Amino acid sequence: MARRRQIYEGKAKVLFEGPEPGTLVQYFKDDVTAGNGEKNGIITGKGVLNNRISEYLMQHLHDINIPTHFLRRLNMREQLIREVEIIPLEVVVRNVAAGSIAKRLGLEEGTRLPRTIIEYYYKNDSLNDPMVSEEHIAAFNWAAPQDLDEMNALALRTNDFLMGMFAAAGITLVDFKLEFGRVWEGEEMRIILADEISPDNCRLWDTKTSERMDKDRFRRDLGKVEEAYQEVARRLGILPEAGNGDLKGPEAVQ
Ligand SMILES: Nc1ncnc2c1ncn2[C@@H]1O[C@H](COP(=O)(O)OP(=O)(O)O)[C@@H](O)[C@H]1O
Ligand SMILES: [Mg+2]
Repeated sequence: MARRRQIYEGKAKVLFEGPEPGTLVQYFKDDVTAGNGEKNGIITGKGVLNNRISEYLMQHLHDINIPTHFLRRLNMREQLIREVEIIPLEVVVRNVAAGSIAKRLGLEEGTRLPRTIIEYYYKNDSLNDPMVSEEHIAAFNWAAPQDLDEMNALALRTNDFLMGMFAAAGITLVDFKLEFGRVWEGEEMRIILADEISPDNCRLWDTKTSERMDKDRFRRDLGKVEEAYQEVARRLGILPEAGNGDLKGPEAVQ
C-alpha cells in the first residue's frame, strides 16, 4: 500500500491525508518540547498514551454532546479525525493558579482561582504564542464574536465535565489548553473541538499529594514523565491490567 501523504509535522503530532475527503490521520509522536521548542526530548510511549487518553476524553465529551474532531482510533499511535480549519487560538481554561498565570500575577501555585478563568493565546510559534484579548481576536478577525462565545461555552462545558471525570480518579484538573476548528455542513459552519486533550496540554495534579502528573514533569525536570502519563491512563481505567503492552506501537504507516 502507498504511504499516506503527510500534510503537516508539528512538535508532538504528524497529520496525514485521511482515507476520505474531510478526514485526516493524526499520528502521536514521542517527541516532547517545552518553552516553544527551547527544550526537546523523547518520552518513550508518550504518543501511545496520548492517543488513547485523547480518544477516551473526546469520546466522553461526544457523549455529552460536545462536538469534537475525533472519529475513531486506528492503532496504537493513530486516530482518524475530521479535518477542520483551525482557529489560530489556544484557549486556556484555568481552575487553579499554576505556570504563567502564577508568575504573571504573583500568585502562589496551587491557589484556587476565585472563578474559572479563560485566556486566549495567538497560535504563532515565531511570536511565542502571545496572550491576546477578545479585542485582538475581533479586530484581526481570528474569530467572530459569536464564534468566540461558542468556544467559551464549549470550553466551560468541557471544563465542568473533565473536572468531574478527573476528580473521580483522584486528580485535580488545574488547567488545560483547547484548540477549536471550523467545519462546514452545507451552508452551515460549526465549531468543534480539535487537536488533543492529554497530559501534554493539561495540568493534572494528584489530589492528595499535589504531585504533577503532566508535562510539567518534563518542563521542570521532575523525572518519571512516562510513568506519570501512564498513571493518568491507569486511573481513568484505560490501561489493560496486564501491563501497558507495546508502548512503542506499530512503526509502519501504511
Ligand atoms: N482536526 C484537525 N484538522 C486540522 N488540523 C488540526 C486538527 N487537529 C489539530 N490540528 C493541528 O495539527 C497540529 C497538531 O500537531 P502538533 O504537533 O500539536 O503541532 P504544533 O507543533 O503546531 O502544536 C496543530 O498545528 C493543530 O492545530
Ligand atoms: Mg500542538
